Amino acid sequence: MRVIIKKNYEEMSKEAAEIIKNLIQKKANCVLGLATGSTPVGLYKELIRMHKEEGLDFSQVITFNLDEYYGLSPEHPQSYRYFMDVNLFNHINIKKENTHLPDGKVPIEKIEQYCESYEDMIKKAGGIDLQVVGIGGDGHIGFNEPGSSLNSRTRLVALDEQTIRDNSRFFEKIEDVPRFAITMGVGTILEAREIIFLANGKKKASIVAKAIEGPITSQISASVLQLHPKVTVILDEEAASELKRKEYYKFVYEAEKRIGLKLF
Ligand code: GLP
Repeated sequence: MRVIIKKNYEEMSKEAAEIIKNLIQKKANCVLGLATGSTPVGLYKELIRMHKEEGLDFSQVITFNLDEYYGLSPEHPQSYRYFMDVNLFNHINIKKENTHLPDGKVPIEKIEQYCESYEDMIKKAGGIDLQVVGIGGDGHIGFNEPGSSLNSRTRLVALDEQTIRDNSRFFEKIEDVPRFAITMGVGTILEAREIIFLANGKKKASIVAKAIEGPITSQISASVLQLHPKVTVILDEEAASELKRKEYYKFVYEAEKRIGLKLF
């Protein structure tokens, strides 16, 4: 794992945007895996800036999002489709038909078939070149709650109490938070060729330390990223504050700059 510690949220977001920009410039029709939540908002702002000011071209880019609340329509202001449109897609030259999120309104009896078709679409697009993930307070990536199989695939999941509480800040009242979601599985996420793992703020420090430096366990889905050969973890100082090997990560990052190579 590359672990990059930036002094604040803005610097963290810029570092992540640079990685995505370099990929798009190398492979115009790349497939991006995208995430929602407050963490990647700064990254999306920076990508919008790069599009507007530097002409970063999204016209051939294809995207797949990690997850969607089950029961919410794309027009619902708290749906992840709505979030992606408002925070990114509406402001760049991506083709809407190239942007994919799980459909939160699939009838329950068609869910299994639908989830398989989401996986098929990813395969047909050539697989995900670069996946962005954040981390939930309980260690989830996507909506893979504690106990998710490390080989899990796209499926319907029940949300954990902590997640419902954490995410209730976006809803009028806690009763409005959906209890289920469709999420890519841990196994699906691990198939991406490269992964960027973002976290910021003091609140994430303890779970980030467990995910990066603790044992791999299905109780903290993000810990499985330790098995992936090409993960870049980008944190702000606060989220990195409980890491034991902070100084080593900083030393490696400086060394990378000297030799001009990324050290995973
Ligand atoms: C949600 C999403 C996750 C995200 C997490 C963290 O539960 N399903 O993909 O990583 O929230 O959210 P935030 O970035 O707001 O802390």
